[in-house]
Amino acid sequence: MTEEMKPWRDLLLVHKFAAEEVYLKLQILDEEFRSIHDYNPIEHIKYRVKKPNSIIDKLQRRGYEPTIENARKYIYDIAGIRIICAFTADIYKVYELIKNQDDLEVVEIKDYIASPKENGYMSLHVHVEVPVFLSSGAVKIRIEIQIRTIAMDFWASLEHKIYYKYRNQAPEHITRRLKICADMITTLDSRMLQIKEEISEFDFVTDTLDKKVIEAIHLEPIEEDE
Ligand code: GTP
Ligand code: MG
Repeated sequence: MTEEMKPWRDLLLVHKFAAEEVYLKLQILDEEFRSIHDYNPIEHIKYRVKKPNSIIDKLQRRGYEPTIENARKYIYDIAGIRIICAFTADIYKVYELIKNQDDLEVVEIKDYIASPKENGYMSLHVHVEVPVFLSSGAVKIRIEIQIRTIAMDFWASLEHKIYYKYRNQAPEHITRRLKICADMITTLDSRMLQIKEEISEFDFVTDTLDKKVIEAIHLEPIEEDE
């Protein structure tokens, strides 16, 4: 590793710590919610740290010198977390859980579900600051959390592939059909939620056999330790 690479390593390392910190918090919130309310608002969580070349590209696209200093100042998604939920209502539930965490400070929120982008993109984007404790002291790191349903995620990953394939110049018939799919997703998500709400009076996970098996699985590692 050359001397000029080290500041990049340090920048990415601290953002990786921030992502891991928030990832663990979210897992705890999800598990706690599941055991208290017998319901899990989160389907799964992914996180990633942006590579130096993508950070440099993004800075240059925005007309900034590609320096570490500018990356810290202007790029808010060096660390990114994506939370996938089953239902739209869960997205706002998860947002509430994040907002109520004392050591996470919500600094910006963009609701592309209430107001989808022109192409049809939907997600709730929440920027939070999280303290990361290093040997030299604590630093606050900003990270981007994207919260979306399974269907919204499906759409976004296809749109992303198309965007890259055509470098932002996708033919009109493709973008038009994508927009139609986005509208179908809005309908699908809201109908699925309606069905779920109608049947929620019949408890999903109270089946005793399931409960016993789940408990047994959780107990296994404890037995191994003994
Ligand atoms: P960048 O888009 O990252 O340059 O920042 P921004 O300030 O415009 O924020 P925005 O909320 O628009 O986007 C942040 C991130 O959301 C992106 O990096 C993507 O991961 C995701 N995103 C935003 N718009 C789209 C979209 O139209 N399609 C897909 N697939 N992802 C999107
Ligand atoms: Mg953007």
